[in-house]
Amino acid sequence: MASSILITGGAGYVGSHTVAALLEQSEPYEIVVVDNVSNAYMAEDQMKPEPIRIVEELTGKNVHFYNVDIRDAEKLSEVFNQHNIECVIHFAALKAVGESVAKPMEYYQVNISGTCTLFDIMRKHGVYKLVYSSSSTVYGEPQMLPINESHPTGLGMTSPYGKSKFFCEEIMKDICRSDTKWTVVSLRYFNPVGAHRSGRIGEHPSGIPNNLMPYISQVAVGRLPELLVFGADYETPDGTGVRDYIHVVDLAEGHVSAIRLLRLPSTAGFHAINLGTGVGYSVLQMIKAFEEASGRKIPYRIVGRRAGDIAANYADVSLSLKLLGWRTTRTLDDMCRDTWRWQSGNPHGFKKS
Ligand code: NAD
Ligand code: WQD
Repeated sequence: MASSILITGGAGYVGSHTVAALLEQSEPYEIVVVDNVSNAYMAEDQMKPEPIRIVEELTGKNVHFYNVDIRDAEKLSEVFNQHNIECVIHFAALKAVGESVAKPMEYYQVNISGTCTLFDIMRKHGVYKLVYSSSSTVYGEPQMLPINESHPTGLGMTSPYGKSKFFCEEIMKDICRSDTKWTVVSLRYFNPVGAHRSGRIGEHPSGIPNNLMPYISQVAVGRLPELLVFGADYETPDGTGVRDYIHVVDLAEGHVSAIRLLRLPSTAGFHAINLGTGVGYSVLQMIKAFEEASGRKIPYRIVGRRAGDIAANYADVSLSLKLLGWRTTRTLDDMCRDTWRWQSGNPHGFKKS
């Protein structure tokens, strides 16, 4: 039986782009997706979520899909029985920072307990290689910029979401220390934005978007009236928040490189690696870039700061180049144009209306 890559949460935004990136490689990757479609659209008359169906169309390749919750040990184990799983990319999680403050138990059950269940089933099936979706949020308030992987983690984090990412990394470090068979590559994403060049898959937040780029694109397409800029009194060049936005396809390709790293015999242990561009852009710069890419005016109003926001963060990207041989190639204009192609072609996301 050919070896497979199990992708939890593979029907989501980053996951679906990573499935596409893997299938677009020359290596014959066999992909198995596990997703409970709690944040992925699946039409009633379909057996696979829309993003997976579209990726199959785009690549002409098949994706095995299982509608399974990572907290369901029995069903998850059955997936491992059906396939020769070589390694796992673990995207499945709840990720809305604000929601996590209101629903901490749900976030800890999925993001931590679900991850522990996954590790237990992996171990039972002799699978010891994992790529984990972490977040720059584990760094809390930056003590220096750019942020490198030696920056302290777990300090000053306010949201249960951010804490869940930090706690999962600590659990993974302990597991790797307890058994040298384990290799974990924890990818700390900065701010993923953009969409596949086809415009067929992209970010599809349910309800009002929390994040800047999907909010701007929904203003541009007329679904929202104006953007509220959360604060213009930060210690940044124009006073608005600065972030390291990374094209989701660059991010996906970073996962392809991480899979190649996992396959090297010499990489046992826990490795945290930033995935960013190393460049920060302010909110006002993002607005201007999107207006230029879309040809649409983005009305905005400056209001007070959002609770929990930091002034600026952007990545030191030297380790990702050293360990993964990977760097970003797509520009801010690419991020905005690809977002606009997706949004303008799919004003209601994957749902047809
Ligand atoms: P997403 O919500 O689009 O994808 C997550 C997927 O996981 C969804 O398809 C959802 O249905 C699935 N899922 C959720 N709970 C599940 C469960 N219990 N069992 C099985 N499947 C489940 O989110 P995304 O933006 O693609 O993020 C993917 C990962 O990257 C997450 O772990 C997130 O924390 C991390 N991350 C995202 C960002 C970002 O800004 N998008 C930044 C840093 C890290
Ligand atoms: C970016 C900038 C806002 C919306 C979050 C999570 C992080 C990760 C990525 C999962 C900030 C400003 C935003 C708006 C605005 N997610 N903004 N008006 O907060 O850097 O990171 O998403 O891991 O964990 O915290 O991203 O896109 O929400 O905000 O002015 O309507 O845009 O203040 O400066 P953030 P964001």
